[in-house]
Amino acid sequence: MKYFIITYGCQMNKSDSERIAAVLEKIGYKNASKIDEADLIVVNMCSVRQSAVDRVYGLQPMFKTLKTKNYKLQTILTGCILKKDRKKFIEYFDYILNIKNLTRWSKVLATPNSLNQSTIVSDLSQSGNYLKIKPEYSSFPIGYVPISTGCNNFCSYCVVPYTRGPEICRPVKDIISEVRDLVKKGYKEIWLLGQNVNSYNSQISINVNSRISANKIREDSRDINFPKLLKIINNIPGDFWIRFTSSHPKDFSDELIEAMSRCKKITPYLNLPVQSGDNEILKKMNRNYTVEYYKNLVKKIRQTFAKIRGKSVSISISTDIIVGFPGETKKQFKNTVRLFKEIKFDMAYIAQYSPRPGTAAFKMKDDVTKEKKREREKILTEVLKKTALAKNKKLIGKTITILPSEYKNGFLIGKSFHYKTVKWVGSKDLIGKFVRVKITDAQPWGLKGKLLK
Ligand code: SAM
Ligand code: SF4
Ligand code: F3S
Repeated sequence: MKYFIITYGCQMNKSDSERIAAVLEKIGYKNASKIDEADLIVVNMCSVRQSAVDRVYGLQPMFKTLKTKNYKLQTILTGCILKKDRKKFIEYFDYILNIKNLTRWSKVLATPNSLNQSTIVSDLSQSGNYLKIKPEYSSFPIGYVPISTGCNNFCSYCVVPYTRGPEICRPVKDIISEVRDLVKKGYKEIWLLGQNVNSYNSQISINVNSRISANKIREDSRDINFPKLLKIINNIPGDFWIRFTSSHPKDFSDELIEAMSRCKKITPYLNLPVQSGDNEILKKMNRNYTVEYYKNLVKKIRQTFAKIRGKSVSISISTDIIVGFPGETKKQFKNTVRLFKEIKFDMAYIAQYSPRPGTAAFKMKDDVTKEKKREREKILTEVLKKTALAKNKKLIGKTITILPSEYKNGFLIGKSFHYKTVKWVGSKDLIGKFVRVKITDAQPWGLKGKLLK
């Protein structure tokens, strides 16, 4: 029996899929190299925007065809699913299973006919600690290590607190042991994952607007917050890089800036989602910071980094932005453009606002037209292109360290210490080995180079 996993969404879903693979392999399934060889297809979905949900609907014609060829074929839907969509998807999938109950999936799959689907859904509603499952890693030389899951922040546009539930922090000892294990296996880039890594084991009480009354689950070492965790991981012997995501600006403490700058294995790259450059919109988004706070934070991070690591290791900063949030005026959007010009991001993930059922913003009128959203995305992309290109051009002629992670048609592709995408002619056997590459050409979204022997 073979399985095939389709993963949508963020790195957290990617990491979850590695745990799903481990569970399926344990009960005897083998990985299918092609979807039409599979007896079990798992769709690990994302609901962050409607387009992500639509992609799952889009799979249905293919599933129908595959089922006519293989009558044993079973399908599972999991991941970030909104309640409303779950009801609709029930007719398209054999199972809808909660990722948090992954430890119990094998029982359900072993007795497929003993329960009907709706019973399975409710029977699996109690949460198990699925992060304890040893993953079947699939992204060598990059290892994804969740440190927490869920979110308590309830940004008004976001589904995550509803789909993943309240923030649960993983025990420190489990995180350390997973990182050690990965380093021993030769993994060179460790990603610490969480919806808000900065609030890991934080004593800061839950956002007043949140609907959660329960405390975060901490099984041990509750005094080890994120900066302390970083220091511990940085001290694990071995030649590897540490990266993390996502970071909420409101929880970015001075202690974290200092730890990040001092720990030499932490790469000089930070994704710091700002979401909007306008204070009124930020308030409506429930982000709990102002544009001035964000600018000052970036300044502090850049200065501390330069002071501790030296001016030659300036930090790369990327961000996430939503354009066309309900009520966003031309003037408010211009404030975002101004912020982009001021900060000069290395990269930005620009999204057009998508109303998500059940969120606070869903009740606000989605009054920025599709056309305007598209136009605003285009304008910001143009600003970004300029700043990103100017930054990348400065690297021409420099020799930088890269971790090759992909091979395509004679080219190796990898990320630099600063998280820049670099492409050069090379052979597959270099994947997972740090190499020195001289930069020969710069584009806004990437660099080209030549391998130094
Ligand atoms: N935890 C991160 C933070 O605090 O910014 C973000 C995680 S969210 C799953 C990933 C990105 O999706 C967000 O940064 C946001 O830009 C985008 N996003 C979330 N909800 C969205 C929506 N309703 N419409 C458009 N983009 C959205
Ligand atoms: Fe969503 Fe906000 Fe939580 Fe990020 S911090 S996952 S944007 S609710
Ligand atoms: Fe999507 Fe869930 Fe990640 S909604 S972005 S897969 S946390």
